[in-house]
Amino acid sequence: MWMDTKARLLPDVITGPDQDFAASVIDGLSLPRKSLPCRFFYDARGSELFEEITRLPEYYPTRAEIAILETYAAEMAGNTVENAVLVELGSGSSRKTEILLGSLRGLAAYVPIDVSQSALAEAKQRLSGSFPTLPVRPIIGDFSQRLALPEDLASAEKLGFFPGSTIGNFPPPAASALLAAMRELLSPDGRLIVGVDLKKDARALVQAYNDAQGVTADFNLNLLARVNRELDGSFDLACFRHEAIYNPREGRIEMHLVSCKDQAASVRGRWFWFHAGETIHTENSYKYTIGQFQELARTAGWHRGRVWTDAGKLFSVHELVVG
Ligand code: TRP
Repeated sequence: MWMDTKARLLPDVITGPDQDFAASVIDGLSLPRKSLPCRFFYDARGSELFEEITRLPEYYPTRAEIAILETYAAEMAGNTVENAVLVELGSGSSRKTEILLGSLRGLAAYVPIDVSQSALAEAKQRLSGSFPTLPVRPIIGDFSQRLALPEDLASAEKLGFFPGSTIGNFPPPAASALLAAMRELLSPDGRLIVGVDLKKDARALVQAYNDAQGVTADFNLNLLARVNRELDGSFDLACFRHEAIYNPREGRIEMHLVSCKDQAASVRGRWFWFHAGETIHTENSYKYTIGQFQELARTAGWHRGRVWTDAGKLFSVHELVVG
């Protein structure tokens, strides 16, 4: 059954996060400072909630980045050759991609990579309407674990697209390693267009990650709901609360789930204890100045290209060049 639905999407590679979900959760909850890896946020429900986050009044990054793309897509597409391949890491709904695709002609393929099969299926369906001649070749998988393109596309010129400040969800050393892996993937003559949220006033940052409607809280708590659903977990969702704080020393927003009392919860028969006020750290979102991000990219072997920002200087889109 599982293979059937995936086969219908015609993925070129399947790398399952499913196998390591249990191990990662148990490892993370066994640490003295409990944490859960953020890549498990994006099951079908999580991807849906994330789409809702992107429409929240407080969550400025999506709007700011879309404004930048709408203004500069033609510049970004630039001198991309015929028969190039557009590769997107963590494509989700592919809505931002549509803006870029509007300025790209004669692509050999668009390769969206995402862990959410449902998001990929929806995106492919929608794109077949707006870009009927574009071959869409989804890869179901975790872009941070493995990067390989279908063989027949190996020699094409590649344009990478990595929007959403997803790079900010990795600590700088891992972000550098990931950028280096992308450089490998897009070599020898590729470019990467990458969205990066900018440092700003801590209050505006915290609000973006703790909205009044509680959608981000639901998104964060869905991680425990997913543990309950898929790993036979016993978390009492009413007794964990969402928290977002700005850590100025690290230059990052942190998301936590705070235990409201002393309690225990089990995962696949293993028990974990929580003190009142103890947190599970679930996500980081690092913020960069333009210069800081260019320096990070340099450590990954990239040459910096152009940089675009919105009028409010909330968000940046960088062009990185392999050669
Ligand atoms: N990368 C984006 C950011 O850090 C989107 C994102 C990832 C996000 N995880 C999140 C947004 C959790 C809100 C909550 O902003």
